[in-house]
Amino acid sequence: MRKKVSIVGAGNVGATCAHWIAAKELADVVLVDVVEGIPQGKGLDLLEAMPIEKRDVSVAGSNDYALTANSDIVVITAGIPRKPGMSRDDLLQTNFKIMSDVVAKVVEQSPESVLIIVSNPLDAMAQAAFRQSGFNRERVIGMAGVLDSARFRAFIAAELNVSVENVTAFVLGGHGDTMVPLPRYSTVAGIPITELIAPGRLEAMVKRTRDGGAEIVKYLKTGSAYYAPSAAVTEMAEAILKDKKKILPCAAYLQGEYGIDGYFIGVPCKLGAAGLEQIVQIKLTAEEDAALKKSAAAVKELCAVIGV
Ligand code: NAI
Ligand code: 2OP
Repeated sequence: MRKKVSIVGAGNVGATCAHWIAAKELADVVLVDVVEGIPQGKGLDLLEAMPIEKRDVSVAGSNDYALTANSDIVVITAGIPRKPGMSRDDLLQTNFKIMSDVVAKVVEQSPESVLIIVSNPLDAMAQAAFRQSGFNRERVIGMAGVLDSARFRAFIAAELNVSVENVTAFVLGGHGDTMVPLPRYSTVAGIPITELIAPGRLEAMVKRTRDGGAEIVKYLKTGSAYYAPSAAVTEMAEAILKDKKKILPCAAYLQGEYGIDGYFIGVPCKLGAAGLEQIVQIKLTAEEDAALKKSAAAVKELCAVIGV
C-alpha cells in the first residue's frame, strides 16, 4: 500500500510541498485548507500533472479532514506568513489559534501519524502542536534547520564555486534571529569551511543565513519563502517514509539534551520510520553553547506568552 502524506494549509508552502512529494512519488497527497476550492483546485491540477511526470500517486484536496484519515505524515503549514517589517514572532497569537484548531482535527483522523510542523514562529508552534496532540516527542518534529542549513550551503557553494553536493552545514537553535549557524561543523568535501573561508567573509555569510528569511520577504513583499522551505519538508518526509535514518537539523522537544529541558529547539536529529529516532549530541564550544542557550531562552519566552 502506498504511503499517505496530508498537508494542512494549501498556500505557498503547502502546495509546493505537495508538488515536490508527488513529483518524487513519495506518497499519495491530501491538501486541506479553510478556503473553499483552493485545496480541491490545486490537488486536481497536480493530479493532472502526474501522467506527464509518470508518477503513480493520487493528489486530492478538501476542506474536510475526513480525507486525511490514517495519514503516515501530516505537514502543518496553516497560518499566516510574515510581510515586510514583520518578524516571525509577530505571527504568534494568530498562528497559535490556527495551530490548536488544526492539530485537534488532524489527531482525530490520524492518531498514528508523524507531524511535521512548519507554521511560524516555528519552535513555539511545534511546542503548541506537541502539547495539543498528546503525541510522544518522536512524532512531533519542526522544520527549520534543514532550510536554514540549505541557505548556508547555497551561500558556501557559491562563495567557493563548488558543487552543492560537496557542501554540508549545520544550523542549530531556534528558527529566528537567534539561530546558531555552526561553521565548525560545516564542510566542503569533508574540509571544515573555517579552513577555506576567511573569518570576516564567513561572518558575513553567517549573518546572511540568519537573515535569509527576511531577504526573501523583502523581495516578495506579500509573503515569505516557499520553494526552499517545501523542499526542506520533503527531505524530512522522505527520510521518515523511507526509514532512511538520516541525520538532519530539526526542531525537537529536548529533555535535558544540550542542557535544555522542556522546549523545542533545532538540534541534529536522526529521522526514520518512527519519526525522531535519536537526538545526536555534538560537542559545542562555550560560545556555541551560550548561543544555543540564548536561542532556547527566546523560544521559552514565546511559549510562555501562549502558555504551552
Ligand atoms: P500562505 O498564506 O501562502 O498559506 C497559508 C495557508 O494556510 C493559506 O492557504 C490559508 O488559507 C491556510 N489556513 C489558514 N488558517 C487555516 C486553518 N485554520 N486551517 C487550514 N488552513 C488554514 O503562507 P505560506 O507561505 O504557505 O506559509 C505558511 C506558514 O509557514 C507561515 O506561518 C510561514 O511563516 C511559515 N513558514 C515557515 C517556515 C519554516 O522554516 N518553518 C518556512 C516558510 C514558511
Ligand atoms: C523563512 O525562513 C518564512 O521562516 C520562513 O523563510
